[in-house]
Amino acid sequence: MQTHEITRRFTDHFVAAGHTKVSSASLILDDPNLLFVNAGMVQFKPYFLGEVPPPYARATSIQKCVRTGDIDEVGRTTRHNTFFQMAGNFSFGDYFKAGAIEHAWNLITSSQDAGGYGFEPDRIWVTVYRDDDEAIELWRKIAGLPLERIQRRGGKDNYWDMGVPGPGGPSSEIYYDRGPEHGREGGPEADEDRYLEIWNLVFMQDVRGELSPKDGHPPIGTLPHKNIDTGMGVERVAYLLQGVDNVYETDLVRPVITRAEEFSGRRYGVDATDDVRFRVIADHARSGVMIIGDGVTPSNEGRGYVLRRLLRRIVRSSRLLGVNEPVLRSFAEVVRDEMAPTYPELVSGFERISAVVEAEEEAFLATLSAGSRIFDTAVAETKSSGGLVLPGDRAFQLHDTYGFPIDLTLEMASEAGLEVDQDRFRALMNEQRSRAKADAATRKVGHGDGSIYRTVLDTHGVTEFLGYTDLSAEATIVGLLVDGVPVAAAREGEHVEVVLDRTPFYAEAGGQQADTGELRGASFTVRVDDVQSPVAGLRVHRGVVVAGEVSLDAAVVAEVDRSRRASVSRAHTATHLVHAGVRGALGTAAAQAGSLNAPGRLRFDFTSPTGAVQPAALAEIEDEVNTVLQQNREVEAYETTMDEAKRLGAMMLFGEKYGDRVRVVDMGDYSRELCGGTHVGRTGEIGMIKVLSEASIGSGVRRVEALVGLDAFRHLSKEHLLVSTLADQLKARPEELPERINGLIERLRTAERDLEKVRADAVLASAGALAAGAEDIDGVSLVAVAAPDGVNGNDLRALASDVRGRLGSQPGVVALFSGDGEKVSFVVATTAAARDRGLAAGALIPTFAPAVGGRGGGKADLAQGGGTDPAGIPDAVRALRSALRN
Ligand code: ALA
Repeated sequence: MQTHEITRRFTDHFVAAGHTKVSSASLILDDPNLLFVNAGMVQFKPYFLGEVPPPYARATSIQKCVRTGDIDEVGRTTRHNTFFQMAGNFSFGDYFKAGAIEHAWNLITSSQDAGGYGFEPDRIWVTVYRDDDEAIELWRKIAGLPLERIQRRGGKDNYWDMGVPGPGGPSSEIYYDRGPEHGREGGPEADEDRYLEIWNLVFMQDVRGELSPKDGHPPIGTLPHKNIDTGMGVERVAYLLQGVDNVYETDLVRPVITRAEEFSGRRYGVDATDDVRFRVIADHARSGVMIIGDGVTPSNEGRGYVLRRLLRRIVRSSRLLGVNEPVLRSFAEVVRDEMAPTYPELVSGFERISAVVEAEEEAFLATLSAGSRIFDTAVAETKSSGGLVLPGDRAFQLHDTYGFPIDLTLEMASEAGLEVDQDRFRALMNEQRSRAKADAATRKVGHGDGSIYRTVLDTHGVTEFLGYTDLSAEATIVGLLVDGVPVAAAREGEHVEVVLDRTPFYAEAGGQQADTGELRGASFTVRVDDVQSPVAGLRVHRGVVVAGEVSLDAAVVAEVDRSRRASVSRAHTATHLVHAGVRGALGTAAAQAGSLNAPGRLRFDFTSPTGAVQPAALAEIEDEVNTVLQQNREVEAYETTMDEAKRLGAMMLFGEKYGDRVRVVDMGDYSRELCGGTHVGRTGEIGMIKVLSEASIGSGVRRVEALVGLDAFRHLSKEHLLVSTLADQLKARPEELPERINGLIERLRTAERDLEKVRADAVLASAGALAAGAEDIDGVSLVAVAAPDGVNGNDLRALASDVRGRLGSQPGVVALFSGDGEKVSFVVATTAAARDRGLAAGALIPTFAPAVGGRGGGKADLAQGGGTDPAGIPDAVRALRSALRN
């Protein structure tokens, strides 16, 4: 049964049982605790917690998930995927254990003809949490499972939570026995390879605190309702129903292996080491493409770093399979073709996806080739000293400085007949790790783990945000922290964090800078310098008590700095317009990769499929955007459903919260984006936009910076003044300036060339006088002098040759010195007749060079050198004379 059919049957089964079908959320949800969405329940968390009333009592979804915790296991086991799809059914206070067990059992054991998966009931095992007798009873009653195939397990295996404070509950897992050829008897407790987990039913009923019931700590509360959260591993079911050996060989993953076989000329299934590489490629290609599809680009931290690792592991595994050409785009195409039926955005976004992978591959290949040179040198050194072991320090240097993976070093070393000192390598890695840890620890603020904020959130709920319409509001202080510790009051001069029940202040998000302003109470004022949202839903005002004493529960008037907010809003609306302009000009592959909206200026990063944006194209974009400003379009913001937003063609970006209700900011047909930020009412309020620059910031990402509104005007006005000053100085009209300046530069160049020639001529003109002044020393004409003023080191050679030429066929030696501050240069030239007498220029140097604190060398006809003591020139001349006499 094909994967698409498995998910279709799942959805049909649960929709028929009254569940609302909900689309997969983006892999990137606005939750600071999660790098990637890793379970179907993540998007429903507020419903479980009772923060938001659920719009339906039952739901079902096929959620895309990424888990990169055991990235090193990928390819080695039969069941680890970094990307997988979790099919789930959810009950929000509706059915509970009995319903969950019945729905799951029916789907897996109904015959395939009847729309089920047709698993043999006799091969199904289940586990339950410790003393969950109720679940055991239900499995016996509903499924008729014998007690021997129901196992009790502890919190580690059968308690589920998100790994952070929040909803959780005991679970019951469903396993399928693959048969005695795959391992030991004895159920999941004995062997999780033979007994493969396919479905986890979580009975969501608790609130977990800082410590998890998985580790035996009691929950800190109960949820308002008893809920159900389940997750069926789609790839695992596919692997069982398709009769293949592991998840990598299922229908949607295996085609990448086939492409890798074509590239490498090697076959999958022949060599165990190669097979791991094939599987790594297949798995990572899929997760990489899916992650980029949701807006992430490679970088050195967070999600971008995970992505970078995945992509680089593909390239390196390909290398190890003997492939040297670029592979990523081709693998991405295979993934797109397999996954597009469920995720059509992979087709519409493919240009961007391929631009991202190509740029990353190019960068990594450059790294590899730089590293390879270092590697070759290290091998040569090791071999020439007779060694057989490549030093661990070199392996570490390759890893640390060149990003050269250790297994590649191992592989290449073994090809070169060497081993690697892995102990030393590991020791250095450990040292580096502890350094990094110590570093992180010193940077970490006391409350960096967010638990304090979560407590405030749990007690007082989310901060109501009024700032789309109001810039001033009455509110109550519900949380007050000093140095991350809750306090009842804080005095003048203290730095505080204030949480209000409601606020007009915008917390930094989506590139938009936070509001600043004041919180005024009856007897105090807090200046707000920053507003952050350390946990979703909570807005924390950071600032200083500038007067009086602030206390918990006090009433305040929260007042946003209006002019700053207006300025930031202008920049934010302008960013949307620049985004639309860029896409209009460069195509939809140019997608936003980040932005900054600050007072009076904006920064907009985007992936560019075509490299640099030409100045003419940039000017056109700027012109178009300014035209839209002048059209004074209405900027509308409204909430709608995700489906409706998609239908309207709204752009969806990385980092957006893709809940069911989304906020759209709309400027008619020119720009329509999902956005939680604040904007102007009409585009005319922006005034003008001036693009300042466009540049690469690496990995195929370009950055445009622009000024907005009055700041744009002031910039232009300043430049105007500059131009008129220049025009005045050059007595030209502004439009004549480029030509005039070109003319000036040209004239200056010519003048410099002429001057140089005059100087060189003057130098050579002195040659005659020098030759005429030659003294005779035992039949050798000697010209040994300090060169005339203005002769620099470079002229010496030419002058010396010229003087030598004038000495004709007689034996002659020319030695010219030029001294300048602390430096002496000298040149010695000999005629052929002098050389016949055994006078070699190079050999003469040691006779006089010490007098100027120097040395030098050269051939018999010409030699040169330098020293450090210009005052010694007369001594040097005397030394040369006496050398000739001898
Ligand atoms: N949330 C549960 C899991 O991820 C179903 O396993």
